[in-house]
Amino acid sequence: MTNKIDTRFPFTPFPIGWYWVEFSENIKKGKLYSKKWMGRETVFWRGDDGEVCLAKAICPHLGANLAPERGGKLRDGCLVCPFHGFAYNSKGQCVNTPTGPLSTSVQLETYPIFETGGVIFAYWHPAQTEPDWCVPELDPRDWSRFMYTAQEIRTHPQETSENGVDITHLPYVHGYSEVESLGAIHVDGRLLQNKFKLTRQIGPTANLSIKLNVRATVSMWGVGFSMIEPVMESAGLYIRQLALCTPIDEEKVNFVMAIQMKDIEKPNALFPGLGLMPKRILNALLLRLFFKVYLTDISQDFEIWENKKYLTYPRLSTSESAIIQFRRYCEQFYAVPD
Ligand code: FES
Ligand SMILES: [Fe+2]
Repeated sequence: MTNKIDTRFPFTPFPIGWYWVEFSENIKKGKLYSKKWMGRETVFWRGDDGEVCLAKAICPHLGANLAPERGGKLRDGCLVCPFHGFAYNSKGQCVNTPTGPLSTSVQLETYPIFETGGVIFAYWHPAQTEPDWCVPELDPRDWSRFMYTAQEIRTHPQETSENGVDITHLPYVHGYSEVESLGAIHVDGRLLQNKFKLTRQIGPTANLSIKLNVRATVSMWGVGFSMIEPVMESAGLYIRQLALCTPIDEEKVNFVMAIQMKDIEKPNALFPGLGLMPKRILNALLLRLFFKVYLTDISQDFEIWENKKYLTYPRLSTSESAIIQFRRYCEQFYAVPD
């Protein structure tokens, strides 16, 4: 079945906002990368000044493709075009050519970058205006490193983000119980927050499982960035999950699932005897376990996301008004000034 996104959704596939580009550890100095990002062929690299540059892979001189697969190269931290050898620094400025520096300014089309806690984001705006907001800083102190994976899905970032306010699907799709909203969703400019609690069993059978009582906060900054913070207070367990949805083209998104946690404070409250394990091993095991749980849970949504139709006028019950509020919040990411 082919689902052209422009017939599936009554809005652009590329809403304004900050979108995941890559994890910092995957960008090696001296190496040039390419990827399709927001419907554009792009290149990215880390310059000698340590700054990451994400740019449209088209040389402004005469249009050559700058991707490494097409001959683009890095030299002294600058991107060198395969056609006439113009060299661009990490700000995208042409700083040299084989016949010496240019008298006029030649500039790559670059995207504002924000690198935080080992994750790199770039700002997308169709009119290329500078951002007046940002996704939050991911302070790495007290947190483990991120475990992550990415999946290509045929959907739209607004659809994946809508899950964060749709708590009635949680028992039905994910099998959670005792799901309860902890108040109205909160919208403050670019930020939307939703709080709820739930119970989730993990383990092979009902007798051999751990029952987790979770309070979770979902925070969104735009449609491409959701952070879910599940807390299990009784065990002193704090988790941070990122659900980062970046359009690749008009039909597909890259959906990144990342997780990190703080060292567990009261492991015996999670499972008797767990506190006897060496702390480092225990925390590494728990991170793996919760990563697996996170992937299992979210992958249950994929099939639905890929095949659902976006309904402009859904038949919602009164308890689902958060979905309407979410959609109203989303409108700002489509508002392009004249
Ligand atoms: S097209 Fe890139 S230097 Fe000429
Ligand atoms: Fe879900």
